[in-house]
Amino acid sequence: MKKKIVNAKIVSNKRIAEDHYEMDLKTAALAKNSLPGQFVNVKLDEKATDPLLRIPLGIHKIKKEGISLLYKVVGEGTDLLRNKKKGDQISLLGPLGKGFDIKKENEAFVIAGGHGIAPLYALTKELKKNKIDTIFFIGAGKEKHIFCADKIRKMGAKVYIATEDGSLGFKGYVTDVLEKYLERNKLQVPRVTIYACGPKPMLKAVAQIAETKKIEGQVSMDEYMACGIGACMGCAIKTKDGYKLCCKDGPVFDIKEIVW
Ligand SMILES: Cc1cc2nc3c(=O)[nH]c(=O)nc-3n(C[C@H](O)[C@H](O)[C@H](O)COP(=O)(O)OP(=O)(O)OC[C@H]3O[C@@H](n4cnc5c(N)ncnc54)[C@H](O)[C@@H]3O)c2cc1C
Ligand code: FES
Repeated sequence: MKKKIVNAKIVSNKRIAEDHYEMDLKTAALAKNSLPGQFVNVKLDEKATDPLLRIPLGIHKIKKEGISLLYKVVGEGTDLLRNKKKGDQISLLGPLGKGFDIKKENEAFVIAGGHGIAPLYALTKELKKNKIDTIFFIGAGKEKHIFCADKIRKMGAKVYIATEDGSLGFKGYVTDVLEKYLERNKLQVPRVTIYACGPKPMLKAVAQIAETKKIEGQVSMDEYMACGIGACMGCAIKTKDGYKLCCKDGPVFDIKEIVW
């Protein structure tokens, strides 16, 4: 699809936890053309110069009449976004980037860290649509930052949870739970694909586990971005094949490709 700027109407913009919001947007074009793992570049007002840059956000849900975004408020742009109300319009450039390449013959291990769950929800819906066995590992600092677990269970995925403070599930990192699972269960290694999104240290740990266990996988990288369309070279990522652009060649990359 040709990348297009669309003005989308906000259907809702709800606080789901401290500093975390979910925004539903009405946009038939993005509902029709978005793929799990792609993202949109958001501008609060097309003509605004402050903040000048768009905010890249993963497409969290792909619905009949629109999409939704799940975002954490970290700075000026996301703070302004949280104040947007039902009925307001925002400008979206997208869908952008390369999404997940679903391996239909394989079982899926989906691994989310914090708001990294955003694009993995849409992915899981697609995995289940394709009747793919899915095990979902969710990690966050605390219980309140574990999102979507019940909805993911309802889709038919098995869910394991880890929190760093032990307030829900296993106490520790999501990669600890993944390692324990791999120790306890004999895997048909060539029949498993990992899909992961989260903070870089988590993705690096997932990549090390995947390498040791010889499991294939894909990671969605969260790099600083400016244009989002491959024009400014601002989001270069070091790969085994030279530098690549996170916005255009990614954000989803083969797990073996990244130089951590
Ligand atoms: C492809 C892609 C998809 C993303 N999807 C989501 C998503 O679904 N939900 C979500 O909450 N966030 C997501 N992000 C991160 C999000 O884009 C940033 O948090 C946002 O741009 C911050 O904007 P701001 O104006 O509020 O903060 P700024 O004022 O720009 O920055 C505030 C703080 O956040 C840090 N920051 C800014 N951008 C990034 C980034 N890309 N990675 C790490 N730290 C950053 C800055 O260093 C600073 O400390 C995604 C990023 C990328 C590249
Ligand atoms: S953000 Fe400009 S090239 Fe990727």
